[in-house]
Amino acid sequence: MKKACAMTAETAVQLRNVTLSYGEFVAVNNVSLSIGRGEFVTLLGPSGCGKTTILRSIAGLVQPTGGEIEVAGRRIDNIPIHKRNIGLVFQNYALFPHKSVFDNIAFGLKYRNVEKSVIAQKVKRALDMVRLPGVEKKLPSEMSGGQQQRIALARAIVIEPDVLLLDEPLSALDANLREEMRTELKTIQREVGITTIFVTHDQEEALAMSDRVVVMNKGVIEQQGSPEDVYRRPETRFVATFLGQSNLLPGRIASVGNGLATVSLDNGQQIEAAAPSAAKAGMAVTGVVRAQKVVVGKTGPIQGKIISVSYLGGTAAYFIDAAGIRLQSISTIEERIWREGEAVAISIAPADCQLLDETGHRLQ
Ligand SMILES: Nc1ncnc2c1ncn2[C@@H]1O[C@H](COP(=O)(O)OP(=O)(O)O)[C@@H](O)[C@H]1O
Ligand SMILES: [Mg+2]
Repeated sequence: MKKACAMTAETAVQLRNVTLSYGEFVAVNNVSLSIGRGEFVTLLGPSGCGKTTILRSIAGLVQPTGGEIEVAGRRIDNIPIHKRNIGLVFQNYALFPHKSVFDNIAFGLKYRNVEKSVIAQKVKRALDMVRLPGVEKKLPSEMSGGQQQRIALARAIVIEPDVLLLDEPLSALDANLREEMRTELKTIQREVGITTIFVTHDQEEALAMSDRVVVMNKGVIEQQGSPEDVYRRPETRFVATFLGQSNLLPGRIASVGNGLATVSLDNGQQIEAAAPSAAKAGMAVTGVVRAQKVVVGKTGPIQGKIISVSYLGGTAAYFIDAAGIRLQSISTIEERIWREGEAVAISIAPADCQLLDETGHRLQ
């Protein structure tokens, strides 16, 4: 494994301690991030956490107040926008409405004084890549939202940028098209092999598309890793609650033995968690359990009562009162659906319960 901060031949984009303040307000706080060539990396986080600001810093639309940015091995934070070789696509496609598709896509090439015959070839190839061959003469208004977004993508990749920056490019599309475009965009990215930084607040989109997900909150990186990693092994309370539906169960470690930590919850009930080596009796902890891992049945160690039921088709979502603790369960419907008011028994496998320490970080 290479060190995250070492500049290597395969590193396409490198942020080192990048900070950006708007007046007193720190929008991006000391962010370091290394992105490999051809990698598809997603910045995921709630609105206002600094995702767009990071993209804008790389593109040169805003100037960081501290830190360094390198793209394709050269410092770029001091060079003007037009000398950075970067492709950008935003949520609102920002196509020129009165220019043909051809002129829209050719814009960056003309600007770079590329020869006319070469421009025509490159535009054609870009349209083939986004699976819209032959639409050169159309106007953006003659195309659907999804098609316009493909044109915006063609315009961004036609200049063969060092990195493609995509800022919530699918969020203006309706749900069905958005899902279709997810797969499509990912396929195009793979085919072209272009290094991509994708920004979204939509966790499903991030998990479905990315090689690596960078989870952000309040201007800092909370965790980064493969989609499976950040989903299954959240490092912080924020990641645990932002990705998927999790139960947070505050308590104290009563005992540790045989690889298990027994946690006394604040309501007096006990649960067991696989014990990390840092687990010690007496520690204040919070158990994190995904809603999908809370098993509702007739027998089990935790007694509870169904408060509410939402039928979701193949699964049901339950809220359960367990002696004052509210648990959420998302269960596949095996034999029957549990009804409101029914007494049930809950079980949670120790391996499905992770422990956070008092600072909200996963016990190691
Ligand atoms: N030009 C600006 N002036 C002042 N504050 C800004 C400006 N642009 C963004 N912000 C603030 O910086 C924070 C991060 O914004 P942004 O990067 O757009 O977040 P995101 O893309 O994650 O929603 C937000 O709190 C936002 O209000
Ligand atoms: Mg944004």
